[in-house]
Amino acid sequence: MTGRKLVRVLEGESLAIPPVWIMRQAGRYLPEYRETRTKVAGFLDLCYDPKLAEEVTLQPIRRFGFDAAILFSDILVVPDALGRKVKFIEGEGPRLDPMTIAEIAKLETGKHIQHLEPVIETVWRLRHSLPTETALIGFCGAPWTVATYMIAGEGSADQKQARLFAYREPKAFARLIETLVVVSAEYLIAQLRAGADAVMVFDSWAGVLTPSDYARWCELPVRQIVEKVRSELPGARFIGFPRGATAHYERFAIATRVNAVGLDWTATAEIGWAVQQHAAVQGNLDPLALLAGGVALDAEIERIVGEFASKPFVFNLGHGILPETPIANVEQMLRRVRKSNHA
Ligand code: CP3
Repeated sequence: MTGRKLVRVLEGESLAIPPVWIMRQAGRYLPEYRETRTKVAGFLDLCYDPKLAEEVTLQPIRRFGFDAAILFSDILVVPDALGRKVKFIEGEGPRLDPMTIAEIAKLETGKHIQHLEPVIETVWRLRHSLPTETALIGFCGAPWTVATYMIAGEGSADQKQARLFAYREPKAFARLIETLVVVSAEYLIAQLRAGADAVMVFDSWAGVLTPSDYARWCELPVRQIVEKVRSELPGARFIGFPRGATAHYERFAIATRVNAVGLDWTATAEIGWAVQQHAAVQGNLDPLALLAGGVALDAEIERIVGEFASKPFVFNLGHGILPETPIANVEQMLRRVRKSNHA
């Protein structure tokens, strides 16, 4: 267990060759993923099928030997478990029925863990099928990001609908966030008990809030999740990813007490170093540099490793890999990070 490089970094070690994995590493850029995806009708059917979810989680590990596997699922299984029907429309993204105040008051939290049982089974299966040196990362969406999809019913760049709702109906919105804190903490505890080495909390829309709303809707709920989980499992390891809240990264590390903070690609070295006084840094290659490949990719890797690897650091992207990324570029990235001749 202690041999897993990601775990060592989350425990505060600095490794000359950092552990490496990438967000959305199991996904459409892999032909074997696209092949498995044809076996089910809907994307969520893949998330709720433990054997197939296990298979797609393992695919990038087999092909590239990443240092960590991330459970194959989605952040929207949590609203789905709360009885909000989630659908994925091909080429467009997720759709939910937008929520009203009355529906927030009636949210059913009793059955969610049962609904998420297949995902927990996937974690359990993976812990037995992964190579022992490969760390396993579980995850959930942060309450704010999950709430934006529940309120609007779909994604948007500025999260106008959720922000407007939070201004107009702060009590109802707070109740939704509190519900998500409780449910997410229970869900992460179940993943850690099933064998996840660490859990990552994705706050993909943290960057669109005013400073005080950021504190209230992003930082505080994530901190509460960390506290709740650690009150049951004191050593629980966390990676936080308040994407786009770049100015707040250092205080996020201090306030939430996560073991690592995921940086998006706009973060400066100074911001990363400030984080590294409190936690590890994970990131932050621009997914477009990975798509571009060539000398630009090598230069960016050298810069990022040079900036961060003397302190606790996990090499990753600043956001998910794009589906059109060539596999050869991922191999080039791994060779460069690991300074080896083979991926
Ligand atoms: O490999 C991994 O990273 C693990 C699996 C994973 C997925 N989604 C699989 C997925 C993880 C960790 C997520 C997190 C997720 N899901 C986030 C947070 C990270 C981020 O990207 O900001 C968010 C916001 C979602 C919600 C979501 N899921 C959207 C907006 C979409 C549609 C956009 C898209 O990329 O298609 C999804 C679908 C989704 N989740 C796919 C995958 C592999 C593609 C669907 C398919 O294969 O048909």
